Amino acid sequence: MPRVIFYTATTLNGFLADDHDSLEWLFAVQQDEDSFAPFIANIGAIVQGSTTFEWVVAHEGLAEHPEKWPAFYGARPTWVFTTRRLTQIPGAEVRFASGSVREAWPEIAAAAGDLDVWVVGGGDLVGQFADAGLLDELRVQIAPVTLASGRPLLPRDLASDRLHLESIAQNGQFAELVYTVRRPDQPEEARDAV
Ligand SMILES: NC(=O)c1ccc[n+]([C@@H]2O[C@H](COP(=O)([O-])OP(=O)(O)OC[C@H]3O[C@@H](n4cnc5c(N)ncnc54)[C@H](OP(=O)(O)O)[C@@H]3O)[C@@H](O)[C@H]2O)c1
Repeated sequence: MPRVIFYTATTLNGFLADDHDSLEWLFAVQQDEDSFAPFIANIGAIVQGSTTFEWVVAHEGLAEHPEKWPAFYGARPTWVFTTRRLTQIPGAEVRFASGSVREAWPEIAAAAGDLDVWVVGGGDLVGQFADAGLLDELRVQIAPVTLASGRPLLPRDLASDRLHLESIAQNGQFAELVYTVRRPDQPEEARDAV
């Protein structure tokens, strides 16, 4: 079964974006190596919430330039969770979904095949995967930035018996932490064998 990975940048105090969904704070932070290219090479399907999708569409002008979509996600099928009717990007493999992530999961997993699933965000959608016992890994690039408020990284209670620190690395101004997530039904000793 594919693994579900939340790969993201975050402020030091746990925000994905500011209150207006701006990422200006992120663009000012310097990295030495491109950690995204090796990450996405192993991704077969992508999941994101509607705010994240609409931000990319607006920020990159994808409605006017749909041919730019592959530069972000390639041909990977992307599920966008929304209760609204959003505009499709011509030529992009975007599928709109709503309701339980568990219900959508078999189709997402089948699309990913032998590769992994990237949950882009936001935090609550990642929380929905955690609630469903479907979240396997957190890969967070922590920026040396704090914001007074904003969109939360992961608004759930996950105690230290659920998160296992796998690695710490520096990339320019970022600290990258990788945690495996123990599923609620997985015995603790199985975690170390992952
Ligand atoms: N720092 C980073 O690297 C990074 C990474 C990811 C995201 N971001 C940013 O962080 C912000 C995240 O925004 P956000 O917290 O609002 O999260 P989001 O997950 O992008 O969007 C939340 C919206 O998605 C829809 N949704 C979520 N779950 C659903 C479900 N199960 N069924 C149907 N619809 C569902 C709902 O909107 P509707 O039903 O109204 O459509 C909900 O309000 C964005 O600004 C994004 O650009 C930053």
